[in-house]
Amino acid sequence: MILMKRANVSRRVSLFLEPASYGCTPSPSTFNHYGKVLNMVKLTCIPAIVFVALSSPQLAASDLEKNTVKSKQATVCAACHGANGVSVANHIPNLAGQRAAYLNDQLLAFNDGSRKSEIMNPIASQLSPEEIKNLSAYFAAQTASSGDGKSAFLPTIAKSRVEFPADYKRTFSRYHVLNMPEDSQVKHYYANDVALRAAAAGKSLPDGSILLVEIYSAKLDGNGKPLTGTDGYFVPDRLLSFPVSGRGPSWGEGFPEMLRNGDWNYALFGADKQLRSNANQAECLACHKPKVASNYAFTSSELKTARN
Ligand code: HEC
Ligand code: HEC
Repeated sequence: MILMKRANVSRRVSLFLEPASYGCTPSPSTFNHYGKVLNMVKLTCIPAIVFVALSSPQLAASDLEKNTVKSKQATVCAACHGANGVSVANHIPNLAGQRAAYLNDQLLAFNDGSRKSEIMNPIASQLSPEEIKNLSAYFAAQTASSGDGKSAFLPTIAKSRVEFPADYKRTFSRYHVLNMPEDSQVKHYYANDVALRAAAAGKSLPDGSILLVEIYSAKLDGNGKPLTGTDGYFVPDRLLSFPVSGRGPSWGEGFPEMLRNGDWNYALFGADKQLRSNANQAECLACHKPKVASNYAFTSSELKTARN
């Protein structure tokens, strides 16, 4: 993390972020993000954020608070809202140029849970009122974008160490199935032996653990309703995508603490088993973060009882 290191080098260093990548050429594509079909725009551009560290005499040495805000804005918020508040995806709002008081109120509401967002609640709950005030002022002061331009993903967070476990059908066990009536989908959950053995023994999941979900569209009956099999689960039709999580030695290093899930990494693969490079790992991390007490997994009780 170049940024973190630089920010820690000297309190007198201020960071200026110049996203040099707003000229990306978007090409329309549809991508199934974790079960939800979203119309997204695929960016074909080099994530070219240029970091320039300037010594800034007007920055008071006592202004440590401002620096931690700068580093949070640059290493956390930027992963989704862009360094200058122009977001990385259509489903994430731009912050640039919005009223500071509005941003402040929204962050306070995310912080106390009165505004619900599975992504923003765990992030805002880690911010102090002072940080919220300063982050709001920062983003309000950025130039609003009128076009469809998007910021690039933060390469350090977007990059995942998780690879597609090619032989999962043979070597993993299915431990859970879940119907998704709203989406007419059904999810099949698999875990490798390393994960299942630890879970059955009530231990936390060690390095080498891999969890994988197959997301299928459900077969529909004549009325467009999902067909249910004799086992009570929707009959799978087409395989859509594979969210995969895995843990490895120091895999979480370099992620900001606010998003880090220990040493777990996440990746989304298409039906072709290729990495969906337009899925932002920051979102996986943000949403799974509250599950810290159960290996960052939502289905930990199913995993635990799978072998009993
Ligand atoms: C993992 C992605 C992600 C990260 C990281 C993230 N956000 Fe968000 N943010 C979102 C999403 C998605 C929404 C829309 C939430 C909703 O309404 O459901 C949002 C909404 C907001 C809003 C409300 C905007 C509006 O127009 O109402 C504010 C303010 C905000 N975020 C501030 C921040 C700040 C400050 C940070 C850094 C500390 C941050 N966010 C980090 C994804 C993210
Ligand atoms: C908005 C919240 C949210 C986001 C974003 C999210 N997940 Fe999940 N994830 C869940 C929930 C809830 C479950 C359990 C129920 C389900 O599958 O719907 C889950 C389950 C999983 C599982 C099965 C193991 C477990 O934790 O129970 C994997 C693997 C997984 N997610 C990977 C990913 C990947 C990869 C991404 C990013 C591409 C991602 N998730 C993004 C909420 C989220």
